[in-house]
Amino acid sequence: MSGLIRIFRTVLNTLTHGPLYSIAQHRISSEVPLDPVENWTFWTKPRNPITEFVVRNYPPDFVRRHILRAMLAQDHSVGIELHYDISNAFYKLFLDKEFMSYSCAYFLSERETLEDAQKNKTQLILALLNPKTGEKILDLGCGWGGMLKCIYDVTGDRNNLSGYTLSKQQLAYIKSELGLNVSLTNFITVEYEEASYDKIFSIGAMEHVRPNEILRLLQKLYSALKPGGKLVQQFFSLEKEECPASMVLGQLFFPGSLLATHSFHLHAAEQAGFKITHDSVDDYKPTLRAWYENLVNNKEKAIDLVGVAIYNKYLSFFPIFWRFFKEEEARLHRLVLEGSGTLREVERLLPGRTTIP
Ligand SMILES: C[S@@+](CC[C@H](N)C(=O)[O-])C[C@H]1O[C@@H](n2cnc3c(N)ncnc32)[C@H](O)[C@@H]1O
Repeated sequence: MSGLIRIFRTVLNTLTHGPLYSIAQHRISSEVPLDPVENWTFWTKPRNPITEFVVRNYPPDFVRRHILRAMLAQDHSVGIELHYDISNAFYKLFLDKEFMSYSCAYFLSERETLEDAQKNKTQLILALLNPKTGEKILDLGCGWGGMLKCIYDVTGDRNNLSGYTLSKQQLAYIKSELGLNVSLTNFITVEYEEASYDKIFSIGAMEHVRPNEILRLLQKLYSALKPGGKLVQQFFSLEKEECPASMVLGQLFFPGSLLATHSFHLHAAEQAGFKITHDSVDDYKPTLRAWYENLVNNKEKAIDLVGVAIYNKYLSFFPIFWRFFKEEEARLHRLVLEGSGTLREVERLLPGRTTIP
């Protein structure tokens, strides 16, 4: 793209989508790969109060909602394909080798590697889910199937285990590499058979469920579970403000997705009839930093696979989200929701101090 067109687009984007969106897009569209040190510093350094005020308040609320309404009008599969159907080999360059887990890991200490921390995460989810042979278990948004494989290793029960994704490349990977039962199904719009699952879980996929879809989805999942069944979730949600300006910037990376606040999720779960028996928080930042380092260390291979623009996009995505968590605009939660009843005391635990009730 010529320099003049890039500058024109940046000015236009600044007016419509705000300065952060346009700067990010300008940097991503650079014809040369971003410098890893400059880029990390650029997105994570403290901002002066005036800049901070502008980026938090522009575009104003009504413009934000207008932009987001237009983005959210598109089918879920459009945004999912844009983000996930790039190249499985590209994702392999920065995700952990064992699970290809594209969600927050559980670091127990700073010395742990991404591989250790993703293993800790799968162990933690296993402990929360407690899967048993013969139980019918469903994974909503199964990625490359790492958690399904983990459960299969425990139960040895392939027939009762299944997963949904909207990514054709993930589906192809799971079919050829893992031979597990996964389908291209939208878990938000699909109708579930009543009382058909013992356990349902979802890791890093509720972020794609739009606020106006959350209650209906939870109601459907509630009735899809057998009596005594449970829903285990890991996802990040907004901590403070509803619809902050960062949701517009987020459209660059996850078009058509919009986060809800954590209290909104909890309230919807109760309204759907669930009892919240576990709610712990974790820190997403070390995972994002590890993915960044892996990607930078595989720069040449990444550019060969997907080109400079997508390499630059992921190099921007990780520090932008790192800052989002640093500033506590969002937090990562792990939840266990169980059958009907009244709300029990909600746990709020810090990483390293998570206990399984
Ligand atoms: C961030 S990835 C997480 C993948 C995996 N659970 C993990 O931890 O590695 C999000 C996953 O959710 C899936 N997903 C998002 N929205 C979906 C929907 N409406 N229906 C089915 N799958 C969806 C994507 O295809 C992708 O597999």
